[in-house]
Amino acid sequence: MSRRLIYAANWKMHHGPVAARAFAERFGATVEPREERELWFFPPAVSIAATAEALGARSDTSVGAQNVYWEQKGAFTGESSVPLVAEAGALGALVGHSERRHIFGETDADTARKVTALLAGGLVPMLCVGETLAEREAGDTEQVVMRQLRAALDGRTPAELDRTLIAYEPVWAIGTGRNATPSDAAMVHRSIRAELARLGARGRAPVLYGGSVNARNILALLAEAELDGVLVGGASLDPDGWAELVGLGG
Ligand code: PGA
Repeated sequence: MSRRLIYAANWKMHHGPVAARAFAERFGATVEPREERELWFFPPAVSIAATAEALGARSDTSVGAQNVYWEQKGAFTGESSVPLVAEAGALGALVGHSERRHIFGETDADTARKVTALLAGGLVPMLCVGETLAEREAGDTEQVVMRQLRAALDGRTPAELDRTLIAYEPVWAIGTGRNATPSDAAMVHRSIRAELARLGARGRAPVLYGGSVNARNILALLAEAELDGVLVGGASLDPDGWAELVGLGG
């Protein structure tokens, strides 16, 4: 596998600073950097600094926030701005994760504002898109994913598009043990890439797949050339399990 693969760990609401530091230290001691592999860790906001410090200056790893607010600062109780997460050590952030969209009611417009704030602040947005089961069963997968993509990325410059990472995560596959077949995922990835090109992306935009990825299914998923990596929740929570998983793909 010659393309550069991205392995992103989304810890969701797990691992406070103590556990995050212990994880990062153990992971750092057991996993060697590899030229063809890029690693992202998305800890809870309170653990960004501990994770970034413990990983140190490895060129293959980046730490990101799971969420940001689009304003720079002010009276927004409970929120973290781009400058705040950057100061803690984040180099990027997830945007539009399905749990943000479906549990916390984030809209396409909110997602667009967050992408704007991240790009303006020099951070990498990892934009998550994906359809619900009802949308898939109604045959609306493409339409939903393209709407989410355009809402967040229409009007960006080619340079901004080239800095943005996309994660396709079918909502019905997240945390459920069900995942899209590699060829189903590849079909959506192809459409995403075509849409990005229409929006002005110059390079081959990296598109990750997420949703119940684990050590048993990752090889079949990454065998699809359309998949540039994975965004992993449950199977990223144990340092040895995660080390094994990032070692499998190449
Ligand atoms: P999962 O979560 O791997 O536990 O399905 C993926 C995600 O939500 O990013």
